[in-house]
Amino acid sequence: MTSTDLQSPMNNKCSGLIDSFGRSIDYLRVSVTDRCDLRCRYCLPEKFKDFTTPDHWLTIDEVTRVVDAFAVLGVKRVRLTGGEPLLRHDLPQLANQLKHIQGIDDLSLSSNCTRMSQLADHLYSAGIRRLNVSLDTLRAERYREITGGGKLDKALSGIEAARTCGFDPIKINTVLMRGVNDDEVDDLLNYCAENGFILRLIESMPVGRPGQRAHKSYIDLQEVRHSLEQRYELIRELLPGGGPASYFKVADLNVHFGLITPISQHFCESCNRLRLTVDGTLHLCLGQNHQYPLRDILRSGVTDGELGDHIRAAVALKPERHEFKERPEQVVHFMSSTGG
Ligand code: GTP
Ligand code: 5AD
Ligand code: SF4
Repeated sequence: MTSTDLQSPMNNKCSGLIDSFGRSIDYLRVSVTDRCDLRCRYCLPEKFKDFTTPDHWLTIDEVTRVVDAFAVLGVKRVRLTGGEPLLRHDLPQLANQLKHIQGIDDLSLSSNCTRMSQLADHLYSAGIRRLNVSLDTLRAERYREITGGGKLDKALSGIEAARTCGFDPIKINTVLMRGVNDDEVDDLLNYCAENGFILRLIESMPVGRPGQRAHKSYIDLQEVRHSLEQRYELIRELLPGGGPASYFKVADLNVHFGLITPISQHFCESCNRLRLTVDGTLHLCLGQNHQYPLRDILRSGVTDGELGDHIRAAVALKPERHEFKERPEQVVHFMSSTGG
């Protein structure tokens, strides 16, 4: 190898962010708010009041600086999450700033879509293309129960607005729960087939108190896969995205679906991600409490080089895997703050 090869950007990226277990970290999830207009039973307690105070929220310029520092270290993809990210009024402006960061080639969004009808155009213009939507049911009364009062028609019209605008792919994320929505897999597959969406079924995780309570309705998705195999021809697929889902095509319905199985078949050995929460904390694993606080560091006049060193120090603390089976009660943060 020549010295020119060693200095090439490709090589910088290869030697980028590698954790203690040899995994390359190239994906950052940025939670822009811990607030949500819904109260999904597995995510956020109904009367929860302990939200981050506004003076602790990272500004969009602070978020941009952190993403820029990650991009220098080889991160290529950014997903904006919440809480519900559309509650943050400066989200389009943030997306627009992130789009211009050199090295970031994939900007995506996770939303419940209840406010998407008003915002789809702005977010599309700001450069977001890939959209993942939390939707656990297609039945209005059930939606109200699962989300603590949400209106299904608002979510469905938001999803339709996003489709019309051109977001692609749109993935529907459904946490499957026994006795709650496990009778809707076929309806959800048909809805996704009709609209050109990808369905992803997710195993519930015991994250935070609500997740631990809801985990009583856990379903092993291998069971669901076997049941689908009795009825349909399933073809294993690889879809772009870099996330944890295993994908299949249902030949008979011409629809793709993914299974996200953190419990029955975890994917920690290929984990490529860190999470930044709105208060400026880096969460190193969804299923562990390891954190690295960046807010005070950012506000202390740190140089770009020092910020990069802090990010490397954080990555070195990333644990090998979750321990949902061994220690189901240990994760104290809520999904609403880390953004799934
Ligand atoms: P793509 O980039 O579209 O592939 O999406 P993604 O799968 O990275 O993103 P999404 O936010 O839609 O993830 C769907 C769900 O998978 C999340 O809400 C979590 O429930 C779960 N999930 C995502 N990342 C992780 C992870 O690192 N660990 C665990 N245990 N679960 C995860
Ligand atoms: N288990 C699995 N997925 C969860 N999500 C939130 N809480 C849980 C949990 N306890 C997922 C939702 C949403 C994303 C933001 O996080 O389905 O798609
Ligand atoms: Fe990565 Fe932790 Fe999720 Fe495993 S549980 S995939 S290590 S974030």
